[in-house]
Amino acid sequence: MSDRKNVLVFRELPPDQLARLQAVHEVTIANPRVPAQEAAFFDALSHAHGLIGSSYRIDEAVLARAPRLEVISSISVGIDNYALPALRARGISLCHTPGVLTETTADTIFSLVMATSRRLVELAGHVREGRWLRNIGEDLFGWDVHGKTLGIVGFGRIGQALARRAALGFGMPVIYHNHGAVDVPELAGRVRDVTMDELLATADIVALVLPLTEESRDLMGPAQFAAMKPGAIFINGARGGLVQEDALLHALESGHLRAAGLDVFATEPLPQDSPLRTHPKVTALPHIGSATHETRYAMARMATDNLLQALAGQRPQATVD
Ligand code: DGY
Repeated sequence: MSDRKNVLVFRELPPDQLARLQAVHEVTIANPRVPAQEAAFFDALSHAHGLIGSSYRIDEAVLARAPRLEVISSISVGIDNYALPALRARGISLCHTPGVLTETTADTIFSLVMATSRRLVELAGHVREGRWLRNIGEDLFGWDVHGKTLGIVGFGRIGQALARRAALGFGMPVIYHNHGAVDVPELAGRVRDVTMDELLATADIVALVLPLTEESRDLMGPAQFAAMKPGAIFINGARGGLVQEDALLHALESGHLRAAGLDVFATEPLPQDSPLRTHPKVTALPHIGSATHETRYAMARMATDNLLQALAGQRPQATVD
């Protein structure tokens, strides 16, 4: 009997990684987010042993249409798109891509710290639109980043990489809140583990860098934004579902918060009618945390490795337990 299995690729893969899969398995490519490919996706799903892709919700209803599924290899570190209890119940493995995107994602989040504090996007717009007619006045001045206290919610790989940039590169006192203290020798004496209440009350800039789970969903609501320091900045580089967006808008419009830098939203792509899209105090990015040529390639390669290992009956290098 042939060892070739059925693999469904549901998001674009680099050609060389696709070729690795095609060399040993029967591969179908169909992106369910493209209306013209949705039927092909569900057709292939009905006999797929392995899936590889990202940015699509694989819930119980989708899984019910995949009776032969053995493994999902996500081209992401986040696993909030997958119905974990149903996967566990059916013994389907889930693999992801931690590590390879850490530094790039921390770069993106720190760039939001810079952009919001120094009003970079807004002021670049002045130049581009021909509105730089005289030296800017105080009304357009920014806020220093160095010396400000950064509060990081979630202190995993990306949170620690963000802390290194802030503490070692920009002279920022860093506090963090996490499920338990974390020992990072190179940051010893430079970061402090605090309660969420202390973090919100103390930080000049609050950055979310934690996974979206049932416990963390809607973490930032009216009470949490009200507990932030007046004039503070809010950054979200994790998942939109962590934030009650109406409460964030209220905190910006009331003047309580200075600005928000957002790479992620409750609904993505951000709906055209979302007030966050054009809000003058919001720097909004289209979920580009890991979106560099080098890092997206590394993620695709790692996800391909994971899938090939799992389908060969080996333990993948990054499996979600
Ligand atoms: C991840 O890997 O989880 C990034 O957010 C890209 O989706």
